[in-house]
Order: sequence, then C-alpha cells, then structure tokens
Amino acid sequence: MKYAAIPRDRLPALLAHMPKTELHIHIEGSLEPELIFALAEKNGVALSYPSVEALRAAYAFTDLQSFLDLYYAGASVLMNEDDFYRMAMAYFARAHADHIVHAELFFDPQTHTERGVPMGAVIEGLDRACADAKAHYGISASLILCFLRHLSEESAFETLQAALPYRQHFIGVGLDSGERGNPPEKFARVFAQCRALGLHIVAHAGEEGPPAYIESALDELQVQRIDHGVRCSDDPALVRRLAASGMPLTVCPLSNVKLCVFPTMQDHNLATLLHAGLCITLNSDDPAYFGGYLLTNFEAVFSALPSLGAQDAWQLARNSIDASFAGEPDKAAWRAALDQVFDQALAGA
Ligand code: ADE
Ligand code: ZN
Repeated sequence: MKYAAIPRDRLPALLAHMPKTELHIHIEGSLEPELIFALAEKNGVALSYPSVEALRAAYAFTDLQSFLDLYYAGASVLMNEDDFYRMAMAYFARAHADHIVHAELFFDPQTHTERGVPMGAVIEGLDRACADAKAHYGISASLILCFLRHLSEESAFETLQAALPYRQHFIGVGLDSGERGNPPEKFARVFAQCRALGLHIVAHAGEEGPPAYIESALDELQVQRIDHGVRCSDDPALVRRLAASGMPLTVCPLSNVKLCVFPTMQDHNLATLLHAGLCITLNSDDPAYFGGYLLTNFEAVFSALPSLGAQDAWQLARNSIDASFAGEPDKAAWRAALDQVFDQALAGA
C-alpha cells in the first residue's frame, strides 16, 4: 500500500501519465461519426442519418441490443483494407495521447464478411495499422478475433476456417454481441479447436448475462480473461472464485453506464470488486459510442468513486499489464516505468 500516501489532488496527472494497456476495445467501436460519414461518402454507402450531429444524437441507449443495432450499422461503411487501416490508426493516435503502451484490439470479422468484404481486407488492414502503431507511437498492438454469439456455431467454425490463412496476425479469439440467450457453451467446440491452435481465449460474460454465463466461460471455454464480468456480484461464491484464481475482468465503466448495466457511475461495483482482491482492469469497449477513450474512463471512475485513491490507480494500471498477453520482457519494462511514475509522485508528496 506504499502509494496510498499520495494525495488525491495528484490523481489527474497520475491517471494521465501512468503507462497502461487496453485489453477490451472493439476497434469497430472506435469509429467516430465523422469517419463513418467520410467512409460512407467514399464507398457510396447510404446512412439512415442526415448528419454527423444527428448520428451522434442517436447515441442514447437503453440496453446492449439498442447499442448493437447502431454499432453494426456504423460498421457497414468499412469496405476495403484501407478503411480498416484508417479506423485503427485513428484509435492508436488517441491511445498514444492516453499513454497506452499496449493494446489488444477486438475485431468482428462476421460483421464484414457477411457483407462480402474479404477476410484478408479486414485482417491485413488492421495488421498494417498494428505495425504502424509500433513504428509511429511505440505502441505494441495485437488482434483478437471475436465470434458473434447471436450467430450460429457453424458460422463461427466457418469464420475460424476463413481466418486461418492469417493465423499469424491474431493472437486470440473472443466472444461478443448480444449476450442474453447466447450462453458461452453454445461455442464450446469452436473454442476447443481454438485452444488446440494455441490461440488465447477470452469471452464477454456477465455484462448483461447472469453469473452462470461467467462460470460457463470459465469451465466450458476455459477463458484466460472475462470481458466485463461485473454481474459476478450477484453470486458471492463466484466473486470468491474469481478473486482466488486471479482471473482478470476487463471492466468498461462508461459502457456499463451508457448501456444501463448500472444507473450511474456512483453505482458501479468496480471499486468493491477491486478491494475484494479481483484483478480488475479498466477499458473503453466502444469509445466512439460511450463518451470517451481509456483516460476518460479512468477520470470518470475516480471522480465518481471516492473510495478510489492513488494505490488503486497503480493497481489498475499494474493489473492491465499483468493481464495482457504481451511478452514478459515488455511487461517487466512497463511495470518498471509504472513504478517510476508513482515513486516520483510519492517523493513529491
Ligand atoms: N460488441 C461491441 N461492443 C460490445 C459489448 N459491449 N458487448 C457485447 N458485444 C459488443
Ligand atoms: Zn466489449
């Protein structure tokens, strides 16, 4: 608890400057309305909204599905390799401004291949952006292919097959889209094949769905991280299991409030879970839709939850490094850089 002595008025600078990773960002959810309109015009795609302002004004969601309807419509402007590259480079510029040193980007190939966009255009555009993120910003970045859980197991198998020629460009697989009625076990056989291929495994669970979906992700899919997971609070035994196992939860605070998982940020349970010893990380989910990128998430949380202090800021950044799929030498360097930022603040406290 050595950083607990750092006063709260140092938090804004610490949150901004501490090195952090982002482990839960849907790259299609970083498409800002301005880029949606620019790509729609370039590609001759018709949009249901007359202007950037009208589109942004429609971002008032009642639940996950009300968001997903707009999110998939927004992603329909992405047609070729360069579109995917531009989208991801716009994210990396924001990530760099937020002192993100490493990002693991989710992408939803079925959203694009269903419209006739080749798998290669999706993955090669994103992969080129990951290489340039390193070259331009020093950000290490990798890709996680997500299966859409509202689609069939067969479609997931076909997607995996279509992605295998690009196997070296993605490090893992995830599970996203509408959670209710689509439990993790629906994809147990696909994930078994992915594990056999040596892919990292994550899944959205317990965002809107019940604690049983978190257990199913752990037991049937054998995930290495749970995306969201905040509804674990409904089952104290599960909370104890998550704490004891050190299973990371990639929590997305602004997303949870925007999608009415919690009525306000003051009601969010992340501080309770963190203080119960769970490996909580903060993430932006779909930053263009939910009111901010990663630093804005940190700022919103620390201003709404008075029980969080400098030690928690350090722990959240440290968790984000530990829970990443980066290599150990990189992780060791980021941990040292993180401690240096906090040691300096402590010396000046
Ligand atoms: N796809 C993009 N954002 C998502 C979220 N928050 N939950 C499930 N699927 C998603
Ligand atoms: Zn998500």
